[in-house]
Amino acid sequence: MFGTTNPVVVYPATGTGAWEAALVNTLDPGDAVLCFETGHFATLWQQMARGLGLEVDFVPGDWRHGVNPETVTERLAADRAHRIKAVCVVHNETSTGVTSRIPEIRAAIDAAGHPALLHVDTISSLGSIDYRHDEWGVDVTVAGSQKGLMLPPGMSFNAISDKALEASKTSRLPRTFWDWCPMLEANERGFFPYTPNTNLMFGLKEALRLLDEEGLPNVFARHTRHGEATRAAVRGWGLEVLCQDEREYSGSLTAVVMPEGVDADKVRAVILDRFDMSLGAGLGKLAGKIFRIGHLGAFNDLTLAGTLAGVQMGLALAGVPVDQRGLGAALERLQTD
Ligand SMILES: Cc1ncc(COP(=O)(O)O)c(C=O)c1O
Repeated sequence: MFGTTNPVVVYPATGTGAWEAALVNTLDPGDAVLCFETGHFATLWQQMARGLGLEVDFVPGDWRHGVNPETVTERLAADRAHRIKAVCVVHNETSTGVTSRIPEIRAAIDAAGHPALLHVDTISSLGSIDYRHDEWGVDVTVAGSQKGLMLPPGMSFNAISDKALEASKTSRLPRTFWDWCPMLEANERGFFPYTPNTNLMFGLKEALRLLDEEGLPNVFARHTRHGEATRAAVRGWGLEVLCQDEREYSGSLTAVVMPEGVDADKVRAVILDRFDMSLGAGLGKLAGKIFRIGHLGAFNDLTLAGTLAGVQMGLALAGVPVDQRGLGAALERLQTD
């Protein structure tokens, strides 16, 4: 799933725990980290880093773009003393439906000739959007159970590079529960240092079987198609997709911008009430301004068609002036490969 032959640590915790594990296993108190304001989750991760006593260089963003690789090179090239020890990137920003280009970010770090580690959050991309931990030179990949792996929340992961493992041997941030070392030692013998969430392990086995049966390239292609069909619907309705760079469109979810003066949460409430369908809310800065259509995990053409039909009817019921040909545009996209 991660595209790695290295160890993957499994925690009985939500994704937030795996964020913390990535930081505390590799860094020292006072180390600098480079973070990017791509959305709500990137903002929370850097807040955590500050809370742990790290010094955060937080590059501002408009929540409509991913991480700009050129900015990565600029910031790292300016850091001649190599104070920055890690670059933290959210691969797919669940709050915006924008996917950052990890291979280009890796190349940007290399272009600056900088030794910083690369930490990537794949909580809403793993198992939905193409991702390759080893090939893309990622040091710690953070993932969770509740999105592309189609499981309940409560299990999370760190995939670890050799370089990150090496860093963990001398890093000094306090850790006990999150410590990779006892986990990896126990895993070697087929055990865990504390009680694993066995019920989710059984679920994970089944989720991996399902993904394997479909074939990961097919899973990624399905998500890409569903993203395309959803954007066709949004544009057909005469509305705007939040993501502004076509290289960064998300296969997991699409955020839809509401016209000026329309409360996105009222539209969501109408759709929940009438069709029993729960759409994602705008988070943080985007509260009330957007809603999010999830199209990841156990999802097929008909579930997407039903979802988009519900959104189209709901928009009309909420009094949002939309062109009723949006759904048709999505169906046309779904009729082709
Ligand atoms: C991209 C991303 N990172 C981190 C998190 C936090 O994970 P959790 O809520 O499982 O702790 C989420 C949650 O949705 C997320 O979407």
